[in-house]
Amino acid sequence: MATEPLRFLITAGPTREPIDPIRYLSNRSSGKMAYAIAEAALAAKHEVMIVSGPVSLPAPEGARVSKVVTSDQMYEAVHEQLPRCDVLVMCAAVADYKPVKASPFKIKKGAAALILELVPTRDILASLADKERKYLVIGFAAETNELEENATKKLREKNCDMIVANDVSRNDRGMESDENEVIIFFRNGQSTKIPRTSKKNIARELVKIISTHAKNV
Ligand code: PMT
Repeated sequence: MATEPLRFLITAGPTREPIDPIRYLSNRSSGKMAYAIAEAALAAKHEVMIVSGPVSLPAPEGARVSKVVTSDQMYEAVHEQLPRCDVLVMCAAVADYKPVKASPFKIKKGAAALILELVPTRDILASLADKERKYLVIGFAAETNELEENATKKLREKNCDMIVANDVSRNDRGMESDENEVIIFFRNGQSTKIPRTSKKNIARELVKIISTHAKNV
């Protein structure tokens, strides 16, 4: 178990991708899972920086918070903070697509169908340098089907040290809920399940697991 305080960089909440000045694409992430991890890390005497998309949660006492809105802003904020972190926890539900161009004016309603052209956003996890990385990378996988297969694919393709997989197809866990159930997959093929419980309990377990692994980085 690492005894020294670790510097956690935790991304939280959704991002919003503007369509026009009053409309955007986003998702249902509340930030509860990420903020619970931040609180658990603080309670374990670690330092915490949160890069947070728009959420309606109060900042955990003792955490520094960088507020962002779009996936591009989250990308820049994470890269700016990376040199000062020991552990990156990518819990945010970063949009995978954004409108190719946001209209500078409110789009007027018309009779014809409106077609929005979307382009992929920059992938923050996939953009991290993998050679001689000095920090631990924890990804999350939000899945509605084939949880293990999809999560372990993301673990490999996004080059994470571990990935926390959760089912987001249900109302009693995952997005927005106060509870969750996760399976943590490790690079060496091992996995650990945390059965359904509060996000606060999951966060405490996760911080313990992260602290154990951080000493090896
Ligand atoms: O916020 P809550 O309501 O508490 O809900 C918690 C949660 C369900 C949002 C959380 O537990 C969770 O699963 N977060 C990850 C959501 C997600 O975007 O998963 P994904 O499988 O689409 O992405 C895989 C990983 O790539 C994630 O770590 C994500 O942060 C990262 N990613 C995704 C897109 C992108 N452009 N850049 C990224 O780095």
